[in-house]
Amino acid sequence: MKPVLTKYLSILNLCVVLSISGISPVLAADVNDLVKSCADCHGKDGASTDPNVPIIGGFSAPYSTDSMIAYKAKERPCPESEYLTGDKKGQKTTMCDIAKEFNEEEMKQIATYFAAKPFVRATNQKVDPALVEQGKAVQNDLCVKCHDKGGSLPSDDSGILAGQWMPYLRQSLKEYSAGDRPMSKKMKKKYKKLKDGDIEALIHYFGSFK
Ligand code: HEC
Ligand code: HEC
Repeated sequence: MKPVLTKYLSILNLCVVLSISGISPVLAADVNDLVKSCADCHGKDGASTDPNVPIIGGFSAPYSTDSMIAYKAKERPCPESEYLTGDKKGQKTTMCDIAKEFNEEEMKQIATYFAAKPFVRATNQKVDPALVEQGKAVQNDLCVKCHDKGGSLPSDDSGILAGQWMPYLRQSLKEYSAGDRPMSKKMKKKYKKLKDGDIEALIHYFGSFK
């Protein structure tokens, strides 16, 4: 009788310990499942090594959540993209189709996961020093208010521009210029002041962060 009781008590104990330590194996597995396929394109922990796929590790959770919501609602353009690795390698999809799979709660979970990872800056980007200087001046004049320190602060909730892949930035800025990607009224006010050549200069400036 006694050993059985002891065994019973120790199982009970284990349950109590697990629940007070907050270990919840089910939830932990969940977020890892949700982010599993992201790595096929965005790389390990969102540190993309492909110039056409943005680095997303280190973005603030609100920024990534809003981006996913915008893709799901097709408010943001969704350029076609190909799985670079994994089971679906070579298959085409878009961020809109990917975001469709998640509800807002899951998006927040995913965004929180990536917010805890470092933003690993792109490497080996070729920049023109004269354009970097020009871009720096434009950024300080028109963009710094919401993209402080070269756009390197996640807490600005405006993405991270410093050290982002230049081809991705070029694509994003093209979408803003064409009016295909919505921007806030305040950003638009400054954006309209950009002159010919400023955009390419900004891309070189952001790309110069190593
Ligand atoms: C098939 C490749 C692919 C997969 C898989 C993929 N993405 Fe993307 N993702 C992209 C590309 C390409 C872009 C840039 C699209 C654009 O220009 O708007 C992007 C953009 C994003 C952005 C916006 C970045 C920014 O700077 O605004 C977020 C956030 C994002 N992806 C999150 C995710 C998450 C989370 C997952 C996994 C659930 C995921 N992606 C899976 C290719 C992919
Ligand atoms: C009043 C604030 C504000 C100003 C000024 C501003 N931005 Fe933004 N910017 C934002 C916000 C907020 C976002 C994120 C919302 C979104 O998805 O468009 C953003 C997003 C961006 C993105 C997309 C980042 C990504 O990862 O896809 C780029 C590129 C950008 N801004 C460039 C600029 C440039 C260049 C200027 C100066 C000409 C500028 N911004 C001025 C607020 C601002």
